[in-house]
Amino acid sequence: MKKHLEILADKSLLIARALELVTNKIEAKLNQQDKCRIALAGGNTPKPLYEAIAQTSLPWSKIQVFWGDERYVSPDDPQSNQKMAREVWLNKVDFPESNIYPMPTEAGNPSLDAQKYETTLLEVFGLQPGEIPVFDIILLGMGDDAHTASLFPKTAALTVSDRLITVGDKDGQPRLTFTVPLINAADCVIFLVTGANKQPALSQVFAPAADELLYPARLIQPQGELWWLLDEEAGANLKQEN
Ligand code: 6PG
Repeated sequence: MKKHLEILADKSLLIARALELVTNKIEAKLNQQDKCRIALAGGNTPKPLYEAIAQTSLPWSKIQVFWGDERYVSPDDPQSNQKMAREVWLNKVDFPESNIYPMPTEAGNPSLDAQKYETTLLEVFGLQPGEIPVFDIILLGMGDDAHTASLFPKTAALTVSDRLITVGDKDGQPRLTFTVPLINAADCVIFLVTGANKQPALSQVFAPAADELLYPARLIQPQGELWWLLDEEAGANLKQEN
């Protein structure tokens, strides 16, 4: 794993850097293969990045979009990560609907929908059960409790190792989430973290030792590249690593 830590002066510079990283990675991948597969993060931080991506002229027909986690709500719910990405990016460009793979949330059974998405991933990647898809890019955020995707502290989802997709638990609210093995199989994982409220959790995540079940973002050690893009508020007390 190649680890990079960049601390940007403010959120707008972080988003500009993330845009540069993501577009360069997509273009590099498309020089080698006919599709680039990217898993999106939810929450607020990545929203301006998706808005900025929508302003580019990337070859949308060669990009397939997935979600690394999803609240267990309908696609038109204000809480939906899918809704946010569609509104600020996917609906704004000529993005083929057949290249968009939202997490299903309407079976009334999160475990069943998790299994459905796992089957979808295996089909799209042309893999057999037991094999692990290698995403070209996985975007992640991090909560002030050091959760990432919907891998929350002290929950069962953190130790699921025989699945690609599992059910996360945020204070009793079910969510669908990539598992740690699926995230760690990726070619490139990019964390986007801003705000002073994330600083204490980041200190634990970057500490030489800390309980991974308390600070789940520590579990993310991808076989490919790991990028942490922080603003100065979040990255206080940390130093750049290139
Ligand atoms: C979600 C995200 C979640 C998010 C963090 C940080 O569904 O909410 O996937 O893991 O990345 O909670 O959220 P903010 O970027 O809004 O701080």
